[in-house]
Amino acid sequence: MGPEALPLGPYGGAAAAALLLWVVCVLCRRKRKTGEPPLINGWIPYLGKALLFRKDAFKFLLDQQKKLGDIFTVHIAGRYITFIMDPFQYVYVIRNSKQLEFHEFADKMASKTFDYPALSNVKFPDLKENLHRIYQYLQGKPLEIISDHMMKNLQDIFEWKCSQATDWETEKMYKFCCSVMFEASFVTLYGRVPAADGRKVISEIRDKFIKFDASFPYLAANIPIELLGATKKVRKELIHHFLLQNMTKWLGGSKVVQARQDIFEKYELLGDYDKAAHHFAFLWASVGNTIPATFWAMYYLLRHPEALAAVRDEIDHLLQSTGQKRGPTYNIHLTREQLDNLVYLESALNESLRMCSSSMNIRISQEDFVLKLEGDQEVSLRKGDWIALYPQILHMDPEVYEDPKKYKFDRYIENGKKKTTFYKAGRKLKYFLMPFGSGISMCPGRFLAMNEMKMFLFLLLAHFDVELGENKAVRLDNSRMGLGILLPDTDIAFRYKLRSLRN
Ligand code: HEM
Ligand SMILES: *[C@@H]1O[C@H](CO)[C@@H](O)[C@H](O)[C@H]1NC(C)=O
Ligand SMILES: *[C@@H]1O[C@H](CO)[C@@H](O)[C@H](O)[C@H]1NC(C)=O
Repeated sequence: MGPEALPLGPYGGAAAAALLLWVVCVLCRRKRKTGEPPLINGWIPYLGKALLFRKDAFKFLLDQQKKLGDIFTVHIAGRYITFIMDPFQYVYVIRNSKQLEFHEFADKMASKTFDYPALSNVKFPDLKENLHRIYQYLQGKPLEIISDHMMKNLQDIFEWKCSQATDWETEKMYKFCCSVMFEASFVTLYGRVPAADGRKVISEIRDKFIKFDASFPYLAANIPIELLGATKKVRKELIHHFLLQNMTKWLGGSKVVQARQDIFEKYELLGDYDKAAHHFAFLWASVGNTIPATFWAMYYLLRHPEALAAVRDEIDHLLQSTGQKRGPTYNIHLTREQLDNLVYLESALNESLRMCSSSMNIRISQEDFVLKLEGDQEVSLRKGDWIALYPQILHMDPEVYEDPKKYKFDRYIENGKKKTTFYKAGRKLKYFLMPFGSGISMCPGRFLAMNEMKMFLFLLLAHFDVELGENKAVRLDNSRMGLGILLPDTDIAFRYKLRSLRN
């Protein structure tokens, strides 16, 4: 009997196998046990609700909350994820770092995305702990040193790029933010590339970074890199830039990167390529969110002239009161206190972070156990289940933020001071703004990130008149929902011109 006689045709075998698998899956699909939250199983086994979730996680979660309440489990791409929607319950998840683990999941995802061997591998004892220890170089005194370097590097770039703008110059805003923030962050963390074309080398790395970053949501969704066109090749090229032979030539890098390098050198079983991949991963962490966040901060300020005026007033006032002059020398200096006291700038920045951040805080249950919550509530969780907080829901909650879709630059100010009391249903919230995650998974670069963005905006507004160059709406591109700062769905033109030095 030839193959043509097979009753199912050429793909019949596969179809029959898939059908069988489907029947088996439906039969073995998880059922809710007592004490467990309401369970939403998609009717397509395995894929579950993945498709809907990927399309618009925010809306999907709100819809489920309306139907099922503040705690429910969704079957998404083979995983059971329990969402805790009530912000008053967040603390019970964040506090429980013993039964609810984070690093194993992050390690798996990051090692695959950035192509280094998992930190948890027994070949690298204590590597994870050692790397975590040096996050201290992103705080305190070392943070002040990095911030000072960043301020200087930003001014070098503004001077080089913009000091000819005696008349209006037009550029695309995202491209501008990306180019300035990437170069300034790169030089601050990794050092200057000393060749005559050092700037060009950095811009090549930036262009590859943008290509790689475009594939990031797919990599995070576990899609094999082989299916993502040139991504694999681009990632390899990017990693090669961070080989030790290259990095040792870079001048004036940061203590945090140096300390990471010193740690890697202690692990003989970590290959040269693996070390480079780690450096690349850190670069991604340090600019991947900062660039879009800077864009949104700038975009919202330019869209709201009253906000722009208030922030600029604050900046001019600070310059005046410290006897510093904006002008052709570009050597403004800001102390930590001065940066901290820019309350209007900080409020405007936080307001844009509220609107553009969408990170899911994930924990993984280490055992079958009952998670105790406020008000004698409890939920049974199974080993391996995910627990997720989705702070974008909180950021957009009209009970917490009146008119949540509206940008109000002074939301985080009260009587001229920072406002940190926010309420829901009359009760004060412990967590009201979470762009940087929470608890054990909180971003170690958050202080630097805030400083960098403040310094960028400070210099931009101190030196230049800026305005939008076209009148179109820029919206959030939702393809990174749950993964960090959302990108804009389009770029937009803006104009800048040196401010007159009088007044
Ligand atoms: C607006 C800018 C930034 C945002 C919104 C942001 C947000 C985050 C978030 C949400 C996480 C946790 C990821 C998770 O839960 O899976 C994270 C982790 C991390 N961030 Fe940031 N970040 C920013 C800037 C930076 C900067 C400037 C640096 C470094 C200089 C940095 C370094 C890191 C590192 C190293 C981790 C991984 C921490 C770990 O090993 O657990 N980030 N960031
Ligand atoms: C350094 O970076 C270049 C790309 O600029 C790359 O081609 C090369 O392989 C890297 N390594 C060394 C040792 O130069
Ligand atoms: C702004 O956000 C940062 C980080 O989330 C926080 O530390 C700071 O207190 C906030 N400032 C105000 C005025 O809300």
